[in-house]
Amino acid sequence: MESGKIWFVTGASAGLGLALVKALLEQGHRVAATSRDVDALLEATGAALDGRLLPLAVDLGDERSVRRAVDAAHAAFGGLDVVVNNAACAARGPLDQLSDAALREGFDIGVFGAMNVIRAAMPRLRAQRGGHVFNVSSILGFDGAAEGWGAYCAAKFALGGLTEALAVEAAPHGVRVTLVYPGAARVPAQVARTLIQASQAQYAPRHLFLGRDAFDQARIKIQSVQQELARWREMSIAIGPLDERRLAA
Ligand SMILES: NC(=O)c1ccc[n+]([C@@H]2O[C@H](COP(=O)([O-])OP(=O)(O)OC[C@H]3O[C@@H](n4cnc5c(N)ncnc54)[C@H](OP(=O)(O)O)[C@@H]3O)[C@@H](O)[C@H]2O)c1
Repeated sequence: MESGKIWFVTGASAGLGLALVKALLEQGHRVAATSRDVDALLEATGAALDGRLLPLAVDLGDERSVRRAVDAAHAAFGGLDVVVNNAACAARGPLDQLSDAALREGFDIGVFGAMNVIRAAMPRLRAQRGGHVFNVSSILGFDGAAEGWGAYCAAKFALGGLTEALAVEAAPHGVRVTLVYPGAARVPAQVARTLIQASQAQYAPRHLFLGRDAFDQARIKIQSVQQELARWREMSIAIGPLDERRLAA
């Protein structure tokens, strides 16, 4: 009987995805790892194909490609425990100077790609009444005040919104959902180990900020929203509903 959990990680040939795959294999887990380039993935992991790594060539923007990969992971390992939507890309520059195509690519991979994975994986996790979905955002998915990063922020905020909704939809089925916000240029191996730790925690975090910079930036954003709530309170609450009797009924 195999020990460890069965993970599904997207965007695994470099950076955090690669560090996570390596750490998982070292710790005895089984991993289905997706990449646009399986050869690059295999070269980067340097892992012997001993049956614990399933490299999968996937186009995250293509729902059929993603579904085939999730099905293949389930068939190869006999289950699925933890899903990590890690892959992302985004164009940089002032919003009004970014092309429509550049903006959409960030959403295609980071938002619709993640949704393709969620649509394929959630029915399996729900059916087994357990599992964990990690969606990797960024501190810029919590605080969008970053010049030149609008496209990235927009896609990460979208990921954050769908993740919060997913968390409440998944909870009654025993499926845990965590939104991860790394700060700038984190050490991928450390982030990878922290994600594995969070997957093993008794109570999974809904929002996980990684790095002192992310932690401080989140706190400052929360304080500033609290201050604005207080300053504009009277104006905010003076707005009544259209028809109070209908809403109260
Ligand atoms: N690095 C940081 O400082 C930082 C900070 C905050 C948040 N994050 C987030 O953490 C996650 C990992 O970031 P990272 O810096 O380690 O890696 P990354 O270089 O941003 O890319 C992660 C993976 O996404 C996939 N990817 C990139 N462009 C793609 C495209 N056009 N189409 C399909 N897949 C594409 C690639 O996987 P394949 O080549 O294997 O297909 C790549 O390895 C991302 O979600 C990122 O936004 C990173």
